[in-house]
Amino acid sequence: MEKILVLNFGGQYNQPIARKVREQNIYAEIVSYQKITVEEIVKADYKGVIFTGGPDSVFDEAAPHYDPAILAAGIPILGIGYGCQLIAYMAGGKVTYSSEVSEHGKVELISDGSTLLDGFPAVSVSWMNHRNHIKEAPLGFAVTAYTERCPVAAMENEDRHIYGVQFHPEVTDTEYGELVMHNFLYNICGCSGEWTMEKLAEQKIAEYREKLSGKKVLCALSGGVDSSVAAMLLHKAIGDDLICVFVDNGLLRKNEAETVMRTWSETFDFNLIKVDAQDRFLARLAGVKDPEQKRAVISKEFISVFKEQAEKLGKIHYLVQGTIYSDVLERGSGDIGAEKSELAAAAEFDEIIEPLRDLFKDEVRRMGQALGIPKKLVWQQPFPGPGLALRCTGELTAEKLDLLRETDAIFRDEIMRAGYDRYTNQYFTVLTDTVAVGVMGDHRTFGSTVVLRAVTSDDFMTADWSRIPYEVLDKTSTRITSEVEGITRIVYDITPKPPATVEWV
Ligand code: XMP
Repeated sequence: MEKILVLNFGGQYNQPIARKVREQNIYAEIVSYQKITVEEIVKADYKGVIFTGGPDSVFDEAAPHYDPAILAAGIPILGIGYGCQLIAYMAGGKVTYSSEVSEHGKVELISDGSTLLDGFPAVSVSWMNHRNHIKEAPLGFAVTAYTERCPVAAMENEDRHIYGVQFHPEVTDTEYGELVMHNFLYNICGCSGEWTMEKLAEQKIAEYREKLSGKKVLCALSGGVDSSVAAMLLHKAIGDDLICVFVDNGLLRKNEAETVMRTWSETFDFNLIKVDAQDRFLARLAGVKDPEQKRAVISKEFISVFKEQAEKLGKIHYLVQGTIYSDVLERGSGDIGAEKSELAAAAEFDEIIEPLRDLFKDEVRRMGQALGIPKKLVWQQPFPGPGLALRCTGELTAEKLDLLRETDAIFRDEIMRAGYDRYTNQYFTVLTDTVAVGVMGDHRTFGSTVVLRAVTSDDFMTADWSRIPYEVLDKTSTRITSEVEGITRIVYDITPKPPATVEWV
């Protein structure tokens, strides 16, 4: 399989770069510059290497540097931002700092004829973000673009297949960014673009059929996108030898358990076991108010429920997990990805099958579609593992969770009816412990405050609050106060992330 290495020098744009490559139907993987040697790169047979940006100055001793032998390895290289400066530095060019040359944001790029910039008009808009700049390109490199301030905005050494751009082609503000990627991948690296979700799905199904036929495999199916797509792949490979376990922890949304069971066991004919564990989760959560402790209790209880089920089914050696590429990249930093691996370790499986570990979220969705999972399911909004526990402040009780479920169902319904689900990426309600006064006829009433939360985001690392039309907010508010008893006040959360998080607890 043809693949591109995104050699990461610490820039924040390493994931967008890998995605841009993959959007061209070529597989890309991100590896830190500290974790791979030139020999390993050569051995892995990459079609090309992209140096990412980075936060540092190349002439700073502590800044990330790389073995200059990479420049003589004969593999096409594209350096972006810091990556471009690093090439210049390694190849004997001059990199320097001058406040007059620093550029941040959109600038006019003037380009000459070039293999990398083939198809660029003489003047176009590119996105820049640099303090240092290349004052003189190294010997043998032609300067192929410049800006009013920056003398070397792009350079190339065609004979050695080494290219660099000071601007960022992976950022949407760069008008011809896709063209840079296309030219590098197809015209310079000679890729053929065979990496499509359909082909990948076929390949994986065949691979797992061969490896796992006749063996029992277990899967924790939550009904979310990742576990659903992973389960579907394995189901297509080994059919009923895949046993899925769905745990109803009492922290699910309205009718969620029924819908998941109906979809997966009836519509798709999966071998699916439902575990009703609402009471035990609520019992463990009784009296717990601290958010971190809530998460820990839920995670621990999930592992013990799942372990019990696994034991009941006899010794099963394989566990399927819907780990995706962002989980892998973040693993070890103690976040969401870690939670998934904890389950595997605790339940003592011999092998963990992670069919989606190379894919970004949008690719997982596209694979889901290629596998015939309905669009509605594949494009559903994310729902966290700890579920409604993250949306209910203070102690969790069955009554509070019921109230929350009703309000959430109304908000989601109104967003869908208005067709606004296409413009917002996650939307839900939060039940707070704040008691607010209301008025009903001649009486003062007291009830809970509900928060409406809706965000737009690409990756949920950052998010903005959605500008939901007033009419939708109005309808939601009227419906909640009239249909759900016990709610006197509804507020809309207008905090972006950062400083807030998406979830409340
Ligand atoms: P935050 O609240 O951290 O959320 O801004 C970012 C995204 O991650 C989801 N999220 C979680 N998902 N387990 C999960 O599976 C968790 O503990 C968890 N916490 C947050 C959240 O819904 C949002 O999409």
